[in-house]
Amino acid sequence: MVCLGNICRSPLAEGILKSKVDSHKILVDSAGTGGWHIGELPDSRSIDVALKHDLDITDQRCRKFTPNDFNDYDLIYVMDRSNWRDVKGMARNDKEKQKVHLILDSIYPGQSKDVPDPYYDSNDGFENVFQMLDNACNIIADKLS
Ligand code: 4NP
Repeated sequence: MVCLGNICRSPLAEGILKSKVDSHKILVDSAGTGGWHIGELPDSRSIDVALKHDLDITDQRCRKFTPNDFNDYDLIYVMDRSNWRDVKGMARNDKEKQKVHLILDSIYPGQSKDVPDPYYDSNDGFENVFQMLDNACNIIADKLS
């Protein structure tokens, strides 16, 4: 799961998908394309909205996406088209490019919808993002199992 800062959207996506799949079979992680918050906890508003839905994401620490992630992961879900360009730009071949998917394409195939960045938003923005990611992760978890 990849977003820009790895403190708002992708930590939620990681926590939500982890709660829906068998952790012995599927490794879920998240990262950001930007490096401003490396080592930090998720944003307190993401922690709060996750807790409201009985998910604890406080074990997560921000890290930056690296090309090595293409070796370690089969599927890379990005939150918006800007992440999509950045991550695809790091792919070294077509096989790696094909691993990259806009997460909302799981719900709305081919529509190229973005998960809005809630960093400068109110708490409502975080609940909205949670609901979008929960819906997408239901579909992704079904596909994976
Ligand atoms: P995220 O949100 O990509 O959902 O984690 C952001 C968090 C921090 C920044 C930008 C987006 N930032 O510029 O620090």
